[in-house]
Amino acid sequence: MSEPRPLKALVLAGGAGSRLRPITHTSAKQLVPVANKPVLFYGLEAIAASGIREVGIVVGDTAAEIQAAVGDGSGFGLDVTYLRQDAPRGLAHAVKIARDYLGDADFVMYLGDNFIVGGIDPIVRRFRAQSPAAQIMLTRVSDPRAFGVAVLDGDGRVVNLEEKPAAPKSDLALVGVYLFGPQIHDAVADLKPSWRGELEITDAIQWLIDRGLPVESTVISGYWKDTGNVTDMLEVNRLVLETVEPRRDGTVEDSELIGRVVIEDGAVVRRSRIVGPAVIGADSVVEDSYVGPFTSIDARCTIRDSEVEYSIILAGASLSGVGRVECSLIGREAEVTPAPRVPRAHRLILGDHSKVQISS
Ligand code: G1P
Repeated sequence: MSEPRPLKALVLAGGAGSRLRPITHTSAKQLVPVANKPVLFYGLEAIAASGIREVGIVVGDTAAEIQAAVGDGSGFGLDVTYLRQDAPRGLAHAVKIARDYLGDADFVMYLGDNFIVGGIDPIVRRFRAQSPAAQIMLTRVSDPRAFGVAVLDGDGRVVNLEEKPAAPKSDLALVGVYLFGPQIHDAVADLKPSWRGELEITDAIQWLIDRGLPVESTVISGYWKDTGNVTDMLEVNRLVLETVEPRRDGTVEDSELIGRVVIEDGAVVRRSRIVGPAVIGADSVVEDSYVGPFTSIDARCTIRDSEVEYSIILAGASLSGVGRVECSLIGREAEVTPAPRVPRAHRLILGDHSKVQISS
């Protein structure tokens, strides 16, 4: 039997980081935390768990932030090389600039803002066994227009792909994890920019299909991508918190901890009640408060005289004397305090027999 070709990974962590939404307008979207851990780290861990060691990370404007977080990759058991992309010119452009790094190796391309429950080990093994030109992952979504969309034949082989179609032919969206053999480089070299001015990996895969090369697919269910949708983000945070192992590295005084609760190093919890699953980040202080299920409080936060549940609080944020906060996403260094009390009066014009409830 011949030796399998080497397998590398190409992780895309570029992009301008300038999308106008609360969490990523100041920082890299790949570093948005899920259960206090950047979403990119889950991808790197999944890559390492599948046995890959050599990883090229494509970086853009937020290169410094990504490099500070990941370093040389040794913390993940990886050997990381950074590849600079001058501007967000598309996923296929990232493959183009990684040409020399990748050589003729097979590779996993992993978009750093995608989150996949259950890792990539099974799909990597399937790829190794079948050696198609490309293998993609798909998931059913309610609005496919925001994704690449696939049409399959009866055997699950991909027959057509379209990038962000106005009239999608299916609800199967391309997940941002792809496996490629070296033929993809010929496809990429032949591409023209799309209507959005980018070299689309979707078009490169269609190029392979058009030439009769095998493109395989797997449909998965546990998937999330940072789309700026807070509901989705709280939900993925919940999913991950449900799997954390309870740990108490910080200090807990006169408090009650129930269920899966992680108190990270240097955190202090006083006169409070914490009902898991919940994580209290390093060097955070929780005092005279209640922290309810599915809450992630990142490092250096302060929660005082407050109640917080089913929420994500990013590093350095504080909540003080604000009553109950639920289903919320609070950005880095944000401060939440009570509004000053103003005298209140109700002015009413009520019809006969009205019944009105007024909070007083
Ligand atoms: C990219 C791909 C798209 C895919 C998506 C998954 O979209 O072009 O086909 O469905 O990633 O994250 P983009 O993030 O560039 O909008």
